Amino acid sequence: MSAQIIDGKKIAAQIKQEVKLEAEAYLARNGRKIGLAVILVGDDFASGIYVRNKINACNENCIQSFAHRLPASTTEEELIELIHKLNDDKTVDGILVQLPLPSHMRQNVVLSHISAKKDADGFLAENAGNLMLGNPSLNACTPCGIIELIKSTGRSIDGANAVVIGRSNIVGKPISLLLMENNATVTMCHSHTNNFINFSRHADILVVAVGKKGLIKADMVKKGAVVIDVGMNRQDGHLCGDVEYDEVKEVADFITPVPGGVGPMTIAMLLKNIVKAALALE
Ligand code: GUN
Repeated sequence: MSAQIIDGKKIAAQIKQEVKLEAEAYLARNGRKIGLAVILVGDDFASGIYVRNKINACNENCIQSFAHRLPASTTEEELIELIHKLNDDKTVDGILVQLPLPSHMRQNVVLSHISAKKDADGFLAENAGNLMLGNPSLNACTPCGIIELIKSTGRSIDGANAVVIGRSNIVGKPISLLLMENNATVTMCHSHTNNFINFSRHADILVVAVGKKGLIKADMVKKGAVVIDVGMNRQDGHLCGDVEYDEVKEVADFITPVPGGVGPMTIAMLLKNIVKAALALE
């Protein structure tokens, strides 16, 4: 039987609805909307679209967005100065610097100037460290969205064999920690793993975040698995994931489509993070 499709759009819409209610209640209590500052440096086409989508999502859900579009010639010092201003601005509850930054800027140095309390992306060392320690923190949005998608299937994470393919700072590492926090037994595979099929074939939950079209074929997946495809690859103007969807859906019990799976969840969880940050600062 073909897998059930995990509808990321639908789940994201439900989360946004909850966010909106919380944001409206915040407005009623404080006389101002929760605020997100979004900084975009340069004119990277894809980043421009991502930023526009984030701003639209804020506007639709009672969150005030403050867009700062800076030219590619902006210096690192100027950008850091703006971040400090936003750190001190009481109407700004969350700050997001869209990545990648132009090559003359040191990404880690720039991000380290954002107040950890306003780290809407959950990318800062302090928040990543707190996730590792199991302390409350603002967590990276895509991994939080993945946990929601897995929970929506009704399958237990507790005790499951989870395999994560990819070890990036923004998906692979934090999703591994979140799965472990939810009592899964987690294996991380990456570009130096020998024959990752030996691991992926035993995964009750398989999370693939590599960025390689068609990486995961049906024979690499355990029958009945939950498969989460984080890949976003472009081919002939179309978006596709890392998983060979048509064949893997015949083996898995649950699978995320691309587009319409993980993608919509990232923005929904970003909004949730902003509300969390605002409530902690209130
Ligand atoms: N560039 C690509 N994805 C992201 C993201 O989730 N957050 C930020 N700030 N930049 C990105």
